[in-house]
Amino acid sequence: MGNDRASAQAHLMPHFTSGAAWNSDNLATIERGEGCYVWDTDGNKYLDGLAGLFCTNLGHGRSDLTAAASKQMDKLAFFPTWGWSNPPAAEAASMIAASAPGDLDEVFFVSSGSEAVESALKFARNYHVSQGDEGRYKVIARDWAYHGTTLGTLAVTGIPKFKTHYAPMMWDGVRHVRNTCGDEIPDGGSASDLACVRAVEEMILAEGPETVALVIAEPVQNGRGAVVPPDGYWQELRRICDKYGVLLCADEVINAFGRLGHFTGSERFGVVPDMITFAKGVTSAYLPLGGVIIRRPLVEAVWESPVAMFNHGSTFGGHPVSTAVAVANMRAMHDEQVFDHVLNNEDYFRSQLEGVQAAHNCVSEVRGTGYFYAVEFCADAANGVALTEEQHTGLRGGVLAQYVRDAKIMIRPDDRGATFLAICPPLVADRAVIDDLAARVDQIVARTDQWLA
Ligand SMILES: Cc1ncc(COP(=O)(O)O)c(C=O)c1O
Repeated sequence: MGNDRASAQAHLMPHFTSGAAWNSDNLATIERGEGCYVWDTDGNKYLDGLAGLFCTNLGHGRSDLTAAASKQMDKLAFFPTWGWSNPPAAEAASMIAASAPGDLDEVFFVSSGSEAVESALKFARNYHVSQGDEGRYKVIARDWAYHGTTLGTLAVTGIPKFKTHYAPMMWDGVRHVRNTCGDEIPDGGSASDLACVRAVEEMILAEGPETVALVIAEPVQNGRGAVVPPDGYWQELRRICDKYGVLLCADEVINAFGRLGHFTGSERFGVVPDMITFAKGVTSAYLPLGGVIIRRPLVEAVWESPVAMFNHGSTFGGHPVSTAVAVANMRAMHDEQVFDHVLNNEDYFRSQLEGVQAAHNCVSEVRGTGYFYAVEFCADAANGVALTEEQHTGLRGGVLAQYVRDAKIMIRPDDRGATFLAICPPLVADRAVIDDLAARVDQIVARTDQWLA
């Protein structure tokens, strides 16, 4: 371990990690995984309660996925989709199209979630230009949304701490509106009365509908902590976008491939958006792959216009090895009935977390659905007292991270608009794993309760 840690600290640049944290003795080197557990080079075993980073959907150590990669590498390791097709890319696209809602039948592959969102932004613009609607370029996104870190997608992301330093480098066409967190349909009203719905329409009208290209949102928003939309929210987004000629994109980089017990979150909420972005779970993270699924009529409209093409691309889009793994991953999800497994266990999962909430006074809410939850902290749940700024700062400043480390579980202490734990294990977690996860969360919450006291 000493050598692994020393060479990482000397040469490996971490993502979103301070130098102090990286250079501390807490840095673990994860070398092996099986199912829902991983081991570091000191032999410590951890429960992977975040599916890596919301992505190892089938869990670790799947030899069927590695075999699919190896077989494809032997046959054809690489060829681009710039003017050529390859069998696994075509098969993966067909399988995705067959399972995506409505006429979302065209799949554009890239290598990550940021690239997927970047592609959706550019397709929206490309489409409007192809239809002679040159004025449309603005994008409406939501507060606390995470849509990626490239400069284009960072502008769409709604989490201030990631954006601050880069503000002068970002385009100014993005408007943020409130998300659905805490929003309820007023008594006697309907989904169209939701403040989070009205905010979208009001923003389109304020900007001028003829300037707006796209509305983008996650079905269940990760940024603010597994925020499940109120009934009818997505139908309202669809209605508003249709009314003003704006395209609608569901960013399903986390939601798709079973996280909510369905192929897509859009299916779960009964909506057909114009585009669905995906990444992460499409290969259960065995290889990098992302993409955007687009409604066929929109693609045909571009192809039949003078513009004639989606004027965008990258070297590894439709990579044969990544897409071969995607095919094997989707087949395994189907054969092993992974979505049913999630649906059969989601209530149990939630009840175990609610049990933790009931046993302690510092949890204000357990939110989420499927295999995707947030446990949000407060100072005193019985009396409805929120955390003070000092308490937020203390918990986020290392206290929660230490409790999580001590419990040997990978879940994320989060600070986006609240202090909460993000929980998102591999979809193959059974009730024994859920019990283990809940016991470790209970340990963390109990220590948090003591710290607050
Ligand atoms: C909803 C959503 N969109 C986009 C991204 C960006 O994906 P990536 O990190 O693969 O670029 C993420 C990453 O977590 C995400 O959750």
